Amino acid sequence: MQAAAIAFDRFQKMRDDSCEPRILAAKSALGQRAVILGHHYQRADVYKHADLTGDSLKLSRLASQTDAEFIVFCGVHFMAEVADILSRPEQTAILPDLSAGCSMADMANLAKVEQAWQELTEVLDPDARVIPVTYINSAADLKAFCGEHGGIVCTSTNARKILEWSFARREKVLFFPDQHLGRWTAQQMGIPLEQMAVWDFDQPLGGLTPRQIRDAKMLLWKGHCSVHQMFQAQHILRFRNQYPDGLVISHPECNLEVCRLSDYVGSTEYIIRTIADAPANTRWLVGTELNLVNRIAEEFRPQGKIIQFMAPLVCMCSTMARIDPQHLAWTLENLAAGKVVNPIKVPPHEAALAKIALERMLEIS
Ligand code: 13P
Ligand code: SF4
Repeated sequence: MQAAAIAFDRFQKMRDDSCEPRILAAKSALGQRAVILGHHYQRADVYKHADLTGDSLKLSRLASQTDAEFIVFCGVHFMAEVADILSRPEQTAILPDLSAGCSMADMANLAKVEQAWQELTEVLDPDARVIPVTYINSAADLKAFCGEHGGIVCTSTNARKILEWSFARREKVLFFPDQHLGRWTAQQMGIPLEQMAVWDFDQPLGGLTPRQIRDAKMLLWKGHCSVHQMFQAQHILRFRNQYPDGLVISHPECNLEVCRLSDYVGSTEYIIRTIADAPANTRWLVGTELNLVNRIAEEFRPQGKIIQFMAPLVCMCSTMARIDPQHLAWTLENLAAGKVVNPIKVPPHEAALAKIALERMLEIS
């Protein structure tokens, strides 16, 4: 009979710093068999153990390219699902804490999206006229929905290219779950706000009239990231007033006003690269998650770069933070002992359809 997995209870009360030697020992015992992928929002004492780091697009590419038997994802649930979908059958994607979700991803679910698609048929033929586009921050079954209906996945890096691809095929886009990324990208492409309508998934027909639906090019799902909604135009105006030479950079999950007032808008990887490439002694206001901002503030301080967080309050991605050193140590020690804990397995039919939508995206970007 096989021995049971090591219980998490033994790790729960461990001090953060006591986890480090155990993580290092388990990692070295596993060698090439395990790769740790880390998103930029991970806390410092987890991030430092990642073999590969990146934004959602980079991480999904890395997940499809690694040869490791175990892909330990220090990120959130949808990222581990993407790793499972894009990896080979003999590889296993693992999420050290299953409760590490994304509150924005949870704002859309298959039942609501199918209902929206069904309701759209009252006004037009969605399969002929609407492309469903899901932000990668979404559950695998929504990616599968897009794969099945001629749609596609996008990330914050490639959203514009994906919308261009979509409008070359059909006249309208149903964009979920993040209205802000959809709105910012569409208006950058020259689509006026009057041709965008918010689809309120709790209202019949999205709270829209048939005419509003017919007139809209972009149907924006009423979802958002609570972390990025903390950044406000007044924070930028105050900074500009104090530091007229300062530069502002934001993630496109911020609201439209914040994006418009920013000098640069882009993914987490873009934010890091832009500041890294900037001249020494520049001052920056950054509108994205706190762990990332703290990390780059430290990293670029020797170049005289001053990096400031946009909001006066602490805005961390609390779900991402569920991946702590205790869960990482527990996961790796189990793997080293031959026990696979927290595997993420997308059902095969769903994975096959989701892969179509993801591969369409990877091909374009
Ligand atoms: P990036 O793809 O830019 O890393 O964004 C992921 C995310 O969840 C931002 O909130
Ligand atoms: Fe989701 Fe927002 Fe966290 Fe990104 S920051 S993972 S969008 S909750």
